[in-house]
Amino acid sequence: MKETTAFVCQSCAASYPKWAGQCRNCKGWNTLVEERAPRGGSKAARNIAVSATGSKAVALGEAMQDEAARHPTNMPEVDRVLGGGLVEGSVVLIGGEPGVGKSTLMLQLVAELTKGPRRRGGVLYASGEESAAQVAGRARRLGVAETDALRLVASGDLEDVEAAIAQHDPAVIAVDSVQTMRVADLESAAGSVAQLREVTSRLVTLAKQQARTMILIGHVTKDGSLAGPKVLEHLVDVVLAFDGQRSGGPRLLRTVKNRFGASGELAVMEMSREGLREVADPSSLFLSERPKDVPGSVVVSSADGVRPLLLEVQALVTPSAMPSPRRVATGIDPTRLSILAAVLGQRAGLSVRDRDVFVSVAGGASIEEPAADLAVACAIASSVVELSLPADMVVFGEIGLAGEVRAVPRCTPRLEEAAKLGFKRALIPKANVDRGEVPHGIRAHGVAHAREVAAWIERKSRDA
Ligand code: TYD
Ligand code: MG
Repeated sequence: MKETTAFVCQSCAASYPKWAGQCRNCKGWNTLVEERAPRGGSKAARNIAVSATGSKAVALGEAMQDEAARHPTNMPEVDRVLGGGLVEGSVVLIGGEPGVGKSTLMLQLVAELTKGPRRRGGVLYASGEESAAQVAGRARRLGVAETDALRLVASGDLEDVEAAIAQHDPAVIAVDSVQTMRVADLESAAGSVAQLREVTSRLVTLAKQQARTMILIGHVTKDGSLAGPKVLEHLVDVVLAFDGQRSGGPRLLRTVKNRFGASGELAVMEMSREGLREVADPSSLFLSERPKDVPGSVVVSSADGVRPLLLEVQALVTPSAMPSPRRVATGIDPTRLSILAAVLGQRAGLSVRDRDVFVSVAGGASIEEPAADLAVACAIASSVVELSLPADMVVFGEIGLAGEVRAVPRCTPRLEEAAKLGFKRALIPKANVDRGEVPHGIRAHGVAHAREVAAWIERKSRDA
């Protein structure tokens, strides 16, 4: 068989017959690398859709009977992010930058898994990054009890890992990391797109055919020199993103994709000397350093996941020296910020045309849902008029292009979470108030249009 070669972009996996300086798909420079396909094509790739049940058609009712077994991990926050524990035969990818704590999280997770009744041959921890002694050293620091239910294999050769799986029959396999694993019959280096795809699809096949649970670690680098887990996202069942600052502060584990549950779930952890600690009450953590009575600071009750979360949105509006003033967003979508700034100017009489606008979500958190719009608008308005919002007020609501404030889903649980933390007032969409979605203990003011915001802030600050 003739050997085929292709030039594959190492950041987006686009493939070209000829080399070029720039990838036409993702526009990255110098990202194309020549890769040889294995002789006869990838065996694993062809098997990927085959599951333990074979490929015969089954009735939906029958399929609904044998729902896959779930195993709780003893880490309640992680379980919630997973949608209620690890699903047998599933593949979970945990992506994050170096140093964020992926290896620590994985080791704690598998240590917890070995505490319950042993399933099959226990857990296999494959490390291509660290020696068995290094992993053991970390386990000692984390206070992991000695057990033979957890086996280590320190190798970057996938064949070694596969052999260990065949020998020890583990129910759960942890791989740290997919970028450091390689298969011998591919010529490209570990971490290249071809290796990543082959390594991952072979592990996925193993998981599906033998009903083993895989937890894979994937590195994400900012410069894109290594293929990020993006390439792998469609191969696996669950993708979790782990981020936070290396220097400290909360670490956030977020569900990016979940074939067995909701995405957008968030677990908050803190790194301590004894490893990662789950934060059961993240809202108070995120609000712990909030400055009181400062213009531009607004608390939003967000609900990207199932559990509502209170976060602080900060805005700073300053005169701009630039011909086109800056719109800088951290933790919210920059496009959304530009739109909101335009809507406030055009529809609410609050022009920021000649000013720089900086908006960020405190604590390194982020909000994806449009329900943050009203809070961002209030933070901007509050910074412009230099008046603070009442300290016991939460804000949420979606703003449309006409300046209308639209109802948001799950208003009541958002307000209940706020009430739990001592908030007494809320500025929310009028439609939510009209529907009777305000729980006891909260005084809600309904707004129907963004133009009410600036006027309302001014009046409220005068009364307060
Ligand atoms: P690590 O899990 O190795 O990160 P990753 O695998 O994502 O690269 O650990 C990240 C950092 O956490 C490391 O610099 C040391 C620190 N750390 C603690 O503060 N406490 C601990 O108990 C452990 C194990 C690590
Ligand atoms: Mg690591």
